[in-house]
Amino acid sequence: MGKYSRPRGTHDVYAGAEKWEDDSVRWNVVESLWREICRIYGYQEIRTPIFEQTELFKRSIGDGTDIVSKEMYTFDTPGGDSITLRPEGTAGTLRGYLDSGLYARGGVTKLYYIGQNFRYERPQSGRYRQHQQLGVEALGADDPALDAEVIQLMLSFFRKIGVSRTVVKINSVGSSESRAIYLTALKEFVRPFLEEFSEEGKARFANNPLRMLDTKSPRELEILTDAPSLTDYITDDERVHLETVCGYLTAAGHTYEIDPHLVRGFDYYTKTAFEVQSPDLDAQNALGGGGRYNKLVEQLGGPPTAGIGFGIGMERVMIALQRLGAELPLPTGPTAFVVTLGDAARQAGVNLLSQLRDSGIAANIEYGGRSMKAQMRAANDSGAKYALILGDDEVASGTVQLKNLADSTQVAVGLDKVVGMLRGV
Ligand code: HAM
Repeated sequence: MGKYSRPRGTHDVYAGAEKWEDDSVRWNVVESLWREICRIYGYQEIRTPIFEQTELFKRSIGDGTDIVSKEMYTFDTPGGDSITLRPEGTAGTLRGYLDSGLYARGGVTKLYYIGQNFRYERPQSGRYRQHQQLGVEALGADDPALDAEVIQLMLSFFRKIGVSRTVVKINSVGSSESRAIYLTALKEFVRPFLEEFSEEGKARFANNPLRMLDTKSPRELEILTDAPSLTDYITDDERVHLETVCGYLTAAGHTYEIDPHLVRGFDYYTKTAFEVQSPDLDAQNALGGGGRYNKLVEQLGGPPTAGIGFGIGMERVMIALQRLGAELPLPTGPTAFVVTLGDAARQAGVNLLSQLRDSGIAANIEYGGRSMKAQMRAANDSGAKYALILGDDEVASGTVQLKNLADSTQVAVGLDKVVGMLRGV
């Protein structure tokens, strides 16, 4: 309708949208449940800037990754600094952990966030250029029980909101040392087939060989079926770590798949990497993913500090929930809707509305001098429990008609009594 449209790959989120990924009412419900789960697990909120120094992302995510090499929204400020809109939440959270001195408190620091991220990707179902993540980062221990905790937190959240079908994939990506040996073996294996790889596959071979495993090309997947497995190259300590994490998950009754080909698009991972996928999504089927990054805090100039976390894609969660026909605990409408006929009643009605709201009762009214019928329709559409109807007769007798909109019963109540009656309804 207007002159401008939203940028490609973005969307508006507003009340009552048909698509759940656009419906702010449902977003609020899911975000509240997310905060509730984080509280139960003992995580505190961190809010970091939506932009950071470009260097922070280059250092942490890695120069050879798709995100850093082609997807970042980077610009120079008038002051000459290079700034990037955050493409993910981990780097900024760790920067904040160091910057604000949280690390100095010692022990394990458990943080959660809700935030917007920006990636210049090709938009498709479940893939946006601005997306929201719900994430956690737990810093200060290399304990496999902490890996199990964050994975369980994610799964508890999915269960709580009604994502009833998930596939959990888990792997160990070792350390940079064990990975280096593995990558040599992987490249040796792929070299004779390299001509059959796409341009992107060849580029990955040269710049970020681990990412070759992340291909969607059927031919490349076929070649890679017999490729050496990273799990055969990790150290005993790394293998035991993975087994212990799996042991905790099994004991808690979770099912998961160990996927030796699971790699993620970031250089910072060490040991555990995991992803939770949904059969109810399209090609972009990861609801969330994460892993350990035991060297990252040090890389950002902090003391040696192990850490693990994950990010969940809000839009994808909403798409899956809608397709699953999930029932979210949606908020109810206002308690009261004031309907008036005539000038004197309008005066009394506006006054009554203030009294209701001052008493903490959710109440609404229609504006614009609309007919009684239109006001009643607005009252019904709002989901209100009661219409409080005022006309000349009511003003004269100091009463109001209290109409129960569910069963259409109606009684006259004293204007001085109605607020008290509705308190606690
Ligand atoms: P990620 O796998 O890139 O990980 O993103 C996490 C989740 O965000 C994905 O599983 C997906 O659901 C959603 N997501 C990512 N990109 C898009 C997009 N373009 N449009 C819609 N949804 C998207 C990270 O970002 C890591 N920082 C996670 C992490 C935290 N690892 C350790 N701590």
